[in-house]
Amino acid sequence: MSETSNWAPESWKNRPIVQMPDYLDKDALVRVENRLRGYPPLVFAGEARSLKRSLAQVSEGHAFLLQGGDCAESFADFHPDTIRDTFRILLQMAVVLTFGGSVPVVKVGRMAGQFAKPRSAPTEVIDGVELLSYRGDMINAPEATEQARVADPDRLVQAYNQAASTLNLLRAFSQGGYANLQSVHQWNLDFLADTPQAHRYNDLANRIDEAMSFMFACGVTPELVTQMRETDFYTSHEALHLNYEQALTRIDSTTGDWYDCSAHMLWIGDRTRQIDGAHVEFLRGVGNPLGVKAGPSMSPDDLLRLCDILNPNNEPGRLTVIARMGADQVTEKLPTLVRAIKAEGRKVLWSCDPMHGNTEKVASGYKTRNFDRILAEVRGFFAVHAAEGTHAGGVHFELTGQNVTECIGGTSAVTEETLSERYETACDPRLNADQSLELAFLLSGHLKAERDKARGARRSHAK
Ligand code: PEP
Ligand code: CO
Repeated sequence: MSETSNWAPESWKNRPIVQMPDYLDKDALVRVENRLRGYPPLVFAGEARSLKRSLAQVSEGHAFLLQGGDCAESFADFHPDTIRDTFRILLQMAVVLTFGGSVPVVKVGRMAGQFAKPRSAPTEVIDGVELLSYRGDMINAPEATEQARVADPDRLVQAYNQAASTLNLLRAFSQGGYANLQSVHQWNLDFLADTPQAHRYNDLANRIDEAMSFMFACGVTPELVTQMRETDFYTSHEALHLNYEQALTRIDSTTGDWYDCSAHMLWIGDRTRQIDGAHVEFLRGVGNPLGVKAGPSMSPDDLLRLCDILNPNNEPGRLTVIARMGADQVTEKLPTLVRAIKAEGRKVLWSCDPMHGNTEKVASGYKTRNFDRILAEVRGFFAVHAAEGTHAGGVHFELTGQNVTECIGGTSAVTEETLSERYETACDPRLNADQSLELAFLLSGHLKAERDKARGARRSHAK
Protein backbone atom coordinates (compact mmCIF):
# COMPACT_ATOMS: atom_id res chain seq x y z
CA MET A 1 0.00 0.00 0.00
CA SER A 2 1.00 3.58 -0.43
CA GLU A 3 3.32 4.98 2.23
CA THR A 4 2.07 8.48 1.58
CA SER A 5 0.59 9.68 4.83
CA ASN A 6 -2.35 12.07 5.19
CA TRP A 7 -2.89 12.11 1.47
CA ALA A 8 -6.09 11.56 -0.43
CA PRO A 9 -6.92 12.32 -4.07
CA GLU A 10 -8.83 15.39 -2.84
CA SER A 11 -6.43 16.56 -0.09
CA TRP A 12 -5.15 19.29 -2.45
CA LYS A 13 -8.48 21.03 -1.91
CA ASN A 14 -7.35 22.07 1.59
CA ARG A 15 -4.31 23.88 0.25
CA PRO A 16 -3.94 27.29 -1.36
CA ILE A 17 -4.23 27.03 -5.11
CA VAL A 18 -3.10 29.32 -7.92
CA GLN A 19 -3.65 29.35 -11.70
CA MET A 20 -7.02 27.63 -11.63
CA PRO A 21 -10.06 29.01 -13.45
CA ASP A 22 -13.14 30.23 -11.69
CA TYR A 23 -16.16 28.19 -12.82
CA LEU A 24 -19.41 30.11 -12.60
CA ASP A 25 -21.52 26.95 -12.51
CA LYS A 26 -19.92 24.80 -9.80
CA ASP A 27 -22.54 22.06 -10.13
CA ALA A 28 -21.73 21.64 -13.80
CA LEU A 29 -18.07 21.14 -12.87
CA VAL A 30 -19.03 18.46 -10.33
CA ARG A 31 -21.16 16.67 -12.96
CA VAL A 32 -18.21 16.65 -15.37
CA GLU A 33 -15.83 15.37 -12.67
CA ASN A 34 -18.23 12.51 -11.94
CA ARG A 35 -18.44 11.66 -15.61
CA LEU A 36 -14.67 11.61 -15.99
CA ARG A 37 -14.35 9.46 -12.90
CA GLY A 38 -16.33 6.79 -14.73
CA TYR A 39 -14.20 6.91 -17.88
CA PRO A 40 -11.36 4.47 -18.53
CA PRO A 41 -7.87 5.47 -17.42
CA LEU A 42 -5.73 6.69 -20.33
CA VAL A 43 -2.60 4.90 -19.18
CA PHE A 44 -1.93 1.85 -17.05
CA ALA A 45 0.07 2.18 -13.81
CA GLY A 46 2.49 -0.52 -15.00
CA GLU A 47 3.47 1.72 -17.91
CA ALA A 48 4.18 4.62 -15.56
CA ARG A 49 6.41 2.27 -13.58
CA SER A 50 8.29 1.21 -16.75
CA LEU A 51 8.89 4.86 -17.53
CA LYS A 52 10.13 5.40 -13.98
CA ARG A 53 12.60 2.55 -14.42
CA SER A 54 13.84 4.06 -17.69
CA LEU A 55 14.17 7.48 -16.07
CA ALA A 56 16.14 5.86 -13.24
CA GLN A 57 18.58 4.69 -15.93
CA VAL A 58 18.80 8.27 -17.14
CA SER A 59 19.42 9.70 -13.68
CA GLU A 60 22.22 7.18 -13.21
CA GLY A 61 23.89 8.38 -16.40
CA HIS A 62 23.06 5.44 -18.68
CA ALA A 63 20.46 7.07 -20.92
CA PHE A 64 19.06 10.42 -22.06
CA LEU A 65 15.57 11.91 -21.81
CA LEU A 66 13.97 13.59 -24.82
CA GLN A 67 10.71 15.30 -23.88
CA GLY A 68 8.85 17.53 -26.29
CA GLY A 69 5.71 18.62 -28.05
CA ASP A 70 3.29 21.51 -28.22
CA CYS A 71 3.23 24.29 -25.67
CA ALA A 72 -0.53 23.81 -25.69
CA GLU A 73 -2.45 21.23 -27.68
CA SER A 74 -5.43 22.68 -29.45
CA PHE A 75 -8.94 21.49 -30.24
CA ALA A 76 -8.98 23.46 -33.51
CA ASP A 77 -5.68 21.98 -34.77
CA PHE A 78 -6.56 18.41 -33.83
CA HIS A 79 -5.53 16.35 -36.85
CA PRO A 80 -3.85 12.96 -37.35
CA ASP A 81 -1.12 14.49 -39.53
CA THR A 82 -0.14 16.90 -36.76
CA ILE A 83 0.17 14.04 -34.28
CA ARG A 84 2.13 11.98 -36.80
CA ASP A 85 4.51 14.81 -37.62
CA THR A 86 5.29 15.58 -33.98
CA PHE A 87 5.81 11.89 -33.27
CA ARG A 88 8.01 11.64 -36.34
CA ILE A 89 10.27 14.58 -35.49
CA LEU A 90 10.71 13.17 -31.98
CA LEU A 91 11.67 9.80 -33.51
CA GLN A 92 14.15 11.50 -35.82
CA MET A 93 15.68 13.44 -32.95
CA ALA A 94 15.89 10.27 -30.87
CA VAL A 95 17.67 8.44 -33.69
CA VAL A 96 20.16 11.28 -34.04
CA LEU A 97 20.82 11.21 -30.30
CA THR A 98 21.01 7.43 -30.05
CA PHE A 99 23.30 7.05 -33.02
CA GLY A 100 25.40 10.20 -32.57
CA GLY A 101 25.59 9.99 -28.80
CA SER A 102 25.52 6.17 -28.53
CA VAL A 103 23.07 6.42 -25.70
CA PRO A 104 19.55 5.00 -25.24
CA VAL A 105 16.92 7.72 -25.48
CA VAL A 106 13.74 7.77 -23.43
CA LYS A 107 11.02 9.46 -25.48
CA VAL A 108 8.26 11.40 -23.75
CA GLY A 109 5.75 13.55 -25.66
CA ARG A 110 4.19 16.75 -24.37
CA MET A 111 1.12 15.26 -25.98
CA ALA A 112 -2.25 13.68 -25.27
CA GLY A 113 -3.19 15.94 -22.36
CA GLN A 114 -1.21 19.20 -22.58
CA PHE A 115 -4.28 21.43 -22.55
CA ALA A 116 -4.00 23.73 -19.50
CA LYS A 117 -1.74 26.75 -19.27
CA PRO A 118 -0.53 28.89 -16.38
CA ARG A 119 -0.70 32.59 -17.26
CA SER A 120 1.22 35.61 -16.02
CA ALA A 121 -1.97 37.65 -15.51
CA PRO A 122 -5.66 36.75 -15.01
CA THR A 123 -6.73 39.15 -17.76
CA GLU A 124 -5.26 40.53 -20.97
CA VAL A 125 -6.10 43.52 -23.12
CA ILE A 126 -6.79 42.77 -26.80
CA ASP A 127 -7.58 45.69 -29.12
CA GLY A 128 -8.39 47.84 -26.13
CA VAL A 129 -10.78 45.30 -24.57
CA GLU A 130 -9.92 43.60 -21.29
CA LEU A 131 -10.68 39.86 -21.42
CA LEU A 132 -10.04 36.91 -19.14
CA SER A 133 -6.76 35.29 -20.18
CA TYR A 134 -6.84 32.22 -22.38
CA ARG A 135 -5.86 29.28 -20.13
CA GLY A 136 -5.66 26.39 -22.56
CA ASP A 137 -8.36 24.55 -24.52
CA MET A 138 -9.22 22.40 -21.51
CA ILE A 139 -10.47 25.57 -19.81
CA ASN A 140 -11.60 28.22 -22.30
CA ALA A 141 -11.26 29.18 -25.96
CA PRO A 142 -8.52 31.35 -27.48
CA GLU A 143 -10.82 33.63 -29.48
CA ALA A 144 -10.79 37.22 -28.31
CA THR A 145 -14.39 37.47 -27.12
CA GLU A 146 -15.86 37.63 -23.66
CA GLN A 147 -17.93 34.50 -24.26
CA ALA A 148 -14.95 32.45 -25.50
CA ARG A 149 -12.97 33.19 -22.37
CA VAL A 150 -15.59 31.88 -19.93
CA ALA A 151 -14.32 28.67 -18.28
CA ASP A 152 -16.49 25.80 -19.53
CA PRO A 153 -16.33 22.46 -17.66
CA ASP A 154 -17.50 20.50 -20.74
CA ARG A 155 -14.11 21.25 -22.24
CA LEU A 156 -12.59 18.78 -19.77
CA VAL A 157 -14.52 15.98 -21.47
CA GLN A 158 -13.40 17.13 -24.90
CA ALA A 159 -9.79 17.25 -23.68
CA TYR A 160 -10.11 13.71 -22.33
CA ASN A 161 -11.52 12.47 -25.64
CA GLN A 162 -8.85 14.18 -27.69
CA ALA A 163 -6.15 12.83 -25.36
CA ALA A 164 -7.61 9.32 -25.71
CA SER A 165 -7.57 9.33 -29.49
CA THR A 166 -4.16 11.01 -29.67
CA LEU A 167 -2.77 8.34 -27.38
CA ASN A 168 -4.41 5.64 -29.43
CA LEU A 169 -2.64 6.85 -32.56
CA LEU A 170 0.68 7.21 -30.72
CA ARG A 171 0.40 3.66 -29.47
CA ALA A 172 -0.36 2.47 -33.00
CA PHE A 173 2.63 4.34 -34.43
CA SER A 174 5.06 3.19 -31.76
CA GLN A 175 4.02 -0.45 -31.80
CA GLY A 176 2.44 -1.04 -35.19
CA GLY A 177 5.50 -0.83 -37.43
CA TYR A 178 5.88 2.89 -38.08
CA ALA A 179 8.83 3.08 -35.67
CA ASN A 180 10.61 0.13 -37.29
CA LEU A 181 14.26 1.09 -37.67
CA GLN A 182 14.08 -0.04 -41.30
CA SER A 183 11.96 3.09 -41.87
CA VAL A 184 14.51 5.68 -40.71
CA HIS A 185 14.66 7.19 -44.19
CA GLN A 186 10.91 7.54 -44.43
CA TRP A 187 10.71 9.59 -41.24
CA ASN A 188 12.29 12.52 -43.04
CA LEU A 189 9.55 15.08 -43.41
CA ASP A 190 8.74 16.04 -47.00
CA PHE A 191 9.21 19.77 -46.55
CA LEU A 192 12.66 19.16 -45.09
CA ALA A 193 13.80 17.32 -48.21
CA ASP A 194 16.38 19.86 -49.28
CA THR A 195 17.66 21.49 -46.13
CA PRO A 196 21.10 21.04 -44.54
CA GLN A 197 19.49 19.19 -41.63
CA ALA A 198 17.73 16.79 -43.98
CA HIS A 199 21.01 16.00 -45.75
CA ARG A 200 22.71 15.43 -42.44
CA TYR A 201 19.86 13.22 -41.36
CA ASN A 202 19.96 11.22 -44.60
CA ASP A 203 23.69 10.59 -44.16
CA LEU A 204 23.00 9.27 -40.70
CA ALA A 205 20.09 7.14 -41.95
CA ASN A 206 22.42 5.62 -44.59
CA ARG A 207 24.86 4.66 -41.88
CA ILE A 208 22.07 3.11 -39.82
CA ASP A 209 20.93 1.16 -42.90
CA GLU A 210 24.43 -0.14 -43.35
CA ALA A 211 24.68 -1.21 -39.72
CA MET A 212 21.27 -2.88 -40.01
CA SER A 213 22.28 -4.79 -43.15
CA PHE A 214 25.26 -6.10 -41.25
CA MET A 215 23.05 -7.18 -38.38
CA PHE A 216 20.52 -8.84 -40.72
CA ALA A 217 23.39 -10.79 -42.29
CA CYS A 218 24.24 -11.97 -38.80
CA GLY A 219 20.65 -13.11 -38.30
CA VAL A 220 19.49 -10.22 -36.06
CA THR A 221 16.22 -8.98 -37.58
CA PRO A 222 13.22 -6.85 -36.54
CA GLU A 223 11.14 -10.04 -36.48
CA LEU A 224 13.37 -11.36 -33.73
CA VAL A 225 14.21 -8.18 -31.85
CA THR A 226 11.26 -6.11 -30.62
CA GLN A 227 13.46 -3.02 -30.04
CA MET A 228 14.18 -2.86 -33.77
CA ARG A 229 10.55 -2.76 -34.85
CA GLU A 230 8.86 -0.99 -31.95
CA THR A 231 9.64 1.88 -29.65
CA ASP A 232 8.54 2.95 -26.20
CA PHE A 233 6.82 6.30 -26.34
CA TYR A 234 5.36 7.92 -23.25
CA THR A 235 3.05 10.88 -22.64
CA SER A 236 3.27 13.81 -20.24
CA HIS A 237 1.72 17.17 -19.47
CA GLU A 238 1.68 19.85 -16.82
CA ALA A 239 -0.65 18.70 -14.05
CA LEU A 240 -2.30 22.08 -13.71
CA HIS A 241 -6.02 21.39 -13.72
CA LEU A 242 -6.35 19.38 -10.55
CA ASN A 243 -10.05 18.57 -10.91
CA TYR A 244 -9.22 16.80 -14.18
CA GLU A 245 -6.15 15.08 -12.73
CA GLN A 246 -8.04 13.94 -9.64
CA ALA A 247 -10.87 12.50 -11.74
CA LEU A 248 -8.36 10.33 -13.61
CA THR A 249 -6.50 9.22 -10.50
CA ARG A 250 -7.13 5.58 -9.72
CA ILE A 251 -5.88 2.84 -7.41
CA ASP A 252 -3.63 0.40 -9.22
CA SER A 253 -5.01 -3.04 -8.50
CA THR A 254 -1.61 -4.71 -8.68
CA THR A 255 0.12 -2.54 -6.05
CA GLY A 256 -2.72 -0.79 -4.24
CA ASP A 257 -1.06 2.57 -4.96
CA TRP A 258 -2.64 5.67 -6.48
CA TYR A 259 -1.65 6.67 -10.01
CA ASP A 260 -2.70 9.65 -12.06
CA CYS A 261 -3.79 7.79 -15.18
CA SER A 262 -4.14 10.89 -17.39
CA ALA A 263 -0.51 10.47 -18.56
CA HIS A 264 2.63 8.51 -17.77
CA MET A 265 4.53 11.49 -16.40
CA LEU A 266 3.19 14.70 -14.88
CA TRP A 267 5.06 17.86 -14.06
CA ILE A 268 4.56 20.88 -11.83
CA GLY A 269 5.07 24.26 -13.47
CA ASP A 270 7.36 27.00 -12.24
CA ARG A 271 4.33 29.02 -11.13
CA THR A 272 2.59 26.26 -9.18
CA ARG A 273 5.45 24.69 -7.23
CA GLN A 274 4.69 26.35 -3.85
CA ILE A 275 5.80 23.96 -1.10
CA ASP A 276 2.47 24.19 0.75
CA GLY A 277 0.39 24.61 -2.38
CA ALA A 278 -2.28 22.41 -3.92
CA HIS A 279 -0.24 21.17 -6.91
CA VAL A 280 2.63 19.82 -4.82
CA GLU A 281 0.13 18.26 -2.41
CA PHE A 282 -1.73 16.47 -5.20
CA LEU A 283 1.31 15.11 -7.00
CA ARG A 284 3.14 13.83 -3.93
CA GLY A 285 0.48 11.15 -3.57
CA VAL A 286 0.55 9.57 -7.03
CA GLY A 287 3.07 6.93 -8.06
CA ASN A 288 3.90 8.35 -11.52
CA PRO A 289 7.28 9.77 -12.41
CA LEU A 290 7.12 13.51 -11.74
CA GLY A 291 8.80 16.62 -13.03
CA VAL A 292 9.21 20.00 -11.41
CA LYS A 293 10.21 23.10 -13.31
CA ALA A 294 12.99 25.17 -11.78
CA GLY A 295 13.24 28.79 -12.87
CA PRO A 296 15.70 31.41 -11.61
CA SER A 297 13.74 31.95 -8.38
CA MET A 298 14.18 28.32 -7.23
CA SER A 299 16.45 28.28 -4.17
CA PRO A 300 18.52 25.23 -3.17
CA ASP A 301 16.46 24.99 0.04
CA ASP A 302 13.18 25.00 -1.86
CA LEU A 303 14.45 22.33 -4.20
CA LEU A 304 15.56 20.12 -1.32
CA ARG A 305 12.18 20.54 0.36
CA LEU A 306 10.45 19.63 -2.88
CA CYS A 307 12.59 16.49 -3.02
CA ASP A 308 11.59 15.66 0.58
CA ILE A 309 7.92 16.00 -0.30
CA LEU A 310 7.81 14.61 -3.82
CA ASN A 311 10.46 11.93 -3.48
CA PRO A 312 10.69 11.02 0.22
CA ASN A 313 12.21 7.61 -0.53
CA ASN A 314 14.89 9.09 -2.81
CA GLU A 315 13.80 6.75 -5.55
CA PRO A 316 15.78 7.19 -8.82
CA GLY A 317 13.51 8.03 -11.77
CA ARG A 318 10.77 9.49 -9.59
CA LEU A 319 11.79 13.14 -9.89
CA THR A 320 13.02 15.11 -12.89
CA VAL A 321 14.15 18.67 -12.25
CA ILE A 322 13.49 20.64 -15.41
CA ALA A 323 15.74 23.71 -15.24
CA ARG A 324 14.50 26.72 -17.26
CA MET A 325 16.81 29.49 -16.22
CA GLY A 326 17.27 31.39 -19.47
CA ALA A 327 20.51 31.64 -21.42
CA ASP A 328 21.74 34.57 -19.29
CA GLN A 329 21.23 32.89 -15.95
CA VAL A 330 21.86 29.19 -16.43
CA THR A 331 25.57 29.21 -15.60
CA GLU A 332 24.96 31.40 -12.56
CA LYS A 333 21.84 29.76 -11.08
CA LEU A 334 22.07 26.09 -11.95
CA PRO A 335 25.38 25.21 -10.18
CA THR A 336 24.07 26.03 -6.69
CA LEU A 337 21.08 23.74 -7.25
CA VAL A 338 23.22 20.94 -8.67
CA ARG A 339 25.68 21.21 -5.76
CA ALA A 340 22.94 21.16 -3.13
CA ILE A 341 21.37 18.05 -4.64
CA LYS A 342 24.74 16.33 -4.96
CA ALA A 343 25.86 17.23 -1.44
CA GLU A 344 22.64 15.81 0.01
CA GLY A 345 22.83 12.66 -2.08
CA ARG A 346 19.44 13.25 -3.69
CA LYS A 347 18.64 11.26 -6.79
CA VAL A 348 17.18 13.47 -9.46
CA LEU A 349 17.23 13.53 -13.21
CA TRP A 350 18.46 16.90 -14.52
CA SER A 351 16.71 18.08 -17.63
CA CYS A 352 17.01 21.37 -19.52
CA ASP A 353 14.06 23.37 -20.81
CA PRO A 354 15.76 26.07 -22.88
CA MET A 355 12.43 27.53 -24.01
CA HIS A 356 10.66 29.19 -21.09
CA GLY A 357 13.52 31.36 -19.84
CA ASN A 358 14.13 32.75 -23.32
CA THR A 359 10.77 34.10 -24.41
CA GLU A 360 10.67 37.66 -25.72
CA LYS A 361 8.17 39.93 -27.41
CA VAL A 362 9.29 41.62 -30.63
CA ALA A 363 8.13 45.01 -31.87
CA SER A 364 5.49 43.46 -34.14
CA GLY A 365 3.85 42.01 -31.03
CA TYR A 366 4.80 38.34 -31.58
CA LYS A 367 6.06 36.27 -28.69
CA THR A 368 9.16 34.50 -29.94
CA ARG A 369 12.38 32.79 -28.91
CA ASN A 370 15.78 33.16 -30.48
CA PHE A 371 17.38 29.92 -31.62
CA ASP A 372 20.83 31.16 -30.55
CA ARG A 373 19.64 31.77 -27.01
CA ILE A 374 18.01 28.33 -26.91
CA LEU A 375 21.34 26.84 -28.01
CA ALA A 376 23.21 28.98 -25.49
CA GLU A 377 21.08 27.66 -22.63
CA VAL A 378 21.57 24.05 -23.75
CA ARG A 379 25.34 24.63 -23.94
CA GLY A 380 25.33 26.29 -20.53
CA PHE A 381 23.40 23.35 -19.06
CA PHE A 382 25.91 20.83 -20.41
CA ALA A 383 28.85 22.98 -19.26
CA VAL A 384 27.48 23.18 -15.70
CA HIS A 385 27.04 19.41 -15.50
CA ALA A 386 30.48 18.80 -16.98
CA ALA A 387 32.00 21.11 -14.35
CA GLU A 388 30.04 19.56 -11.47
CA GLY A 389 30.62 15.97 -12.56
CA THR A 390 26.88 15.28 -12.89
CA HIS A 391 24.88 13.86 -15.77
CA ALA A 392 23.12 16.26 -18.11
CA GLY A 393 20.17 13.91 -18.28
CA GLY A 394 17.69 15.34 -20.73
CA VAL A 395 15.97 18.10 -22.59
CA HIS A 396 12.44 19.48 -22.64
CA PHE A 397 11.39 21.34 -25.79
CA GLU A 398 8.32 23.02 -27.17
CA LEU A 399 8.36 21.82 -30.76
CA THR A 400 6.21 20.71 -33.63
CA GLY A 401 6.73 18.62 -36.74
CA GLN A 402 5.10 21.40 -38.75
CA ASN A 403 7.00 23.96 -40.77
CA VAL A 404 6.01 26.89 -38.54
CA THR A 405 7.74 30.26 -38.14
CA GLU A 406 7.57 30.91 -34.42
CA CYS A 407 11.18 30.89 -33.15
CA ILE A 408 13.76 33.14 -34.81
CA GLY A 409 17.01 31.73 -36.26
CA GLY A 410 18.49 28.35 -37.09
CA THR A 411 19.63 27.30 -40.56
CA SER A 412 16.03 27.68 -41.79
CA ALA A 413 16.57 31.36 -40.89
CA VAL A 414 13.19 32.46 -39.60
CA THR A 415 13.47 36.22 -39.04
CA GLU A 416 11.50 38.80 -37.15
CA GLU A 417 9.95 39.78 -40.49
CA THR A 418 8.90 36.23 -41.44
CA LEU A 419 7.37 35.30 -38.06
CA SER A 420 3.91 36.17 -39.35
CA GLU A 421 4.10 33.68 -42.27
CA ARG A 422 3.17 30.58 -40.26
CA TYR A 423 2.79 31.59 -36.64
CA GLU A 424 0.30 28.96 -35.48
CA THR A 425 0.91 28.17 -31.83
CA ALA A 426 -1.97 28.24 -29.37
CA CYS A 427 0.40 29.60 -26.74
CA ASP A 428 4.23 29.78 -26.71
CA PRO A 429 6.49 29.75 -29.83
CA ARG A 430 7.71 26.28 -30.82
CA LEU A 431 10.78 25.03 -32.65
CA ASN A 432 9.86 23.88 -36.14
CA ALA A 433 10.98 20.51 -37.51
CA ASP A 434 14.18 21.89 -39.03
CA GLN A 435 15.20 23.74 -35.88
CA SER A 436 14.42 20.65 -33.80
CA LEU A 437 16.66 18.47 -35.91
CA GLU A 438 19.44 21.04 -35.80
CA LEU A 439 19.24 21.00 -32.01
CA ALA A 440 19.34 17.22 -31.97
CA PHE A 441 22.60 17.23 -33.93
CA LEU A 442 24.08 19.73 -31.53
CA LEU A 443 22.97 17.64 -28.58
CA SER A 444 24.41 14.46 -30.01
CA GLY A 445 27.79 16.22 -30.09
CA HIS A 446 27.49 17.09 -26.40
CA LEU A 447 26.44 13.56 -25.51
CA LYS A 448 29.37 12.12 -27.40
CA ALA A 449 31.76 14.48 -25.59
CA GLU A 450 30.26 13.49 -22.23
CA ARG A 451 30.57 9.81 -23.08
CA ASP A 452 34.18 10.16 -24.32
CA LYS A 453 35.10 12.00 -21.13
CA ALA A 454 33.56 9.24 -18.98
CA ARG A 455 35.40 6.61 -21.01
CA GLY A 456 38.69 8.49 -20.67
CA ALA A 457 38.15 8.71 -16.91
CA ARG A 458 37.45 4.96 -16.68
CA ARG A 459 40.55 4.18 -18.72
CA SER A 460 42.91 6.30 -16.62
CA HIS A 461 41.33 4.81 -13.49
CA ALA A 462 42.03 1.29 -14.77
CA LYS A 463 45.71 2.08 -15.41
C1 PEP B 1 5.27 25.24 -19.99
O1 PEP B 1 6.01 24.25 -19.89
O2 PEP B 1 4.52 25.43 -20.97
C2 PEP B 1 5.35 26.27 -18.93
C3 PEP B 1 4.37 27.12 -18.71
O3 PEP B 1 6.51 26.25 -18.29
P1 PEP B 1 6.99 26.93 -16.92
O4 PEP B 1 6.15 26.33 -15.84
O5 PEP B 1 8.42 26.47 -16.83
O6 PEP B 1 6.85 28.40 -17.07
CO1 CO C 1 5.04 26.98 -22.90
